[in-house]
Amino acid sequence: MSPIRIVFFTGAGISAESGLRTFRDSDGLWEEYRIEDVATPEAWARNAELVLRFYDLRREQVLKASPNAAHEAIAALEDSFHVQVVTQNIDDLHERAGSSRVLHLHGEILKARSTADPSLVFPVNGPHLRTGDKCPKGSQLRPHIVWFGEEVPLLMPAAALVAQADVLVVVGSSLQVYPAAGLVHSAPAQATIHLVDPNTVSAQGVRFTHWKEKASLGVPKLAQFLRKTYT
Ligand code: APR
Repeated sequence: MSPIRIVFFTGAGISAESGLRTFRDSDGLWEEYRIEDVATPEAWARNAELVLRFYDLRREQVLKASPNAAHEAIAALEDSFHVQVVTQNIDDLHERAGSSRVLHLHGEILKARSTADPSLVFPVNGPHLRTGDKCPKGSQLRPHIVWFGEEVPLLMPAAALVAQADVLVVVGSSLQVYPAAGLVHSAPAQATIHLVDPNTVSAQGVRFTHWKEKASLGVPKLAQFLRKTYT
């Protein structure tokens, strides 16, 4: 019998207890910055320096952060299940916790990409990406992030992964940003859906079991439940 397939769809909330700010909580990033100033192609064209500095600050935070018990519990489930992470997060905490299948829908902050050829992606050496950091074709490197108003290139592969899930677990996402949030509707009708979040999250037309607590407590408990139920 093939292993049960679990897809974890994660958002900023799973990294909150690792010290990384979410976006729409009371102290969220969008309380302090305007999206149109730091996370759109127009912002990049208007003031690339400001955009680079915004992501430098976040990259510094990511380099200082460590995975928490939620990231670790997800990685540990790979010993008994086929686990796929589909994350909206741009940090590498899932990978550092040991998850081996991680798809980043909105890009990765520790990578940079050519503005002349988007297929050219490079690791960022250290915390900063600066004006003058060029790709081999001589163009300015930009953060390897999907900005608002840009296509989500990995959306269809992500939808295909969710469509194969026996269990879908949403952790730490307000499910407010599309098309990513729409992925919950790609789960097969027979899949069971769980949601780990200390707050109420609305997901129209989706029936889920709500584990109403922080990820570092809720995800390990849910992992234990999944082991008891399926192994
Ligand atoms: N544990 C679990 N969930 C938490 C925790 C925690 N400790 N703290 C907060 N949360 C929940 C909040 O209740 C909220 O539902 O995490 C969610 C965070 O929601 P958002 O800040 O909207 O983050 P996210 O859903 O990931 O945003 C999606 O929006 O700005 C864009 O590209 C950005 O990928 C991001 C996308």
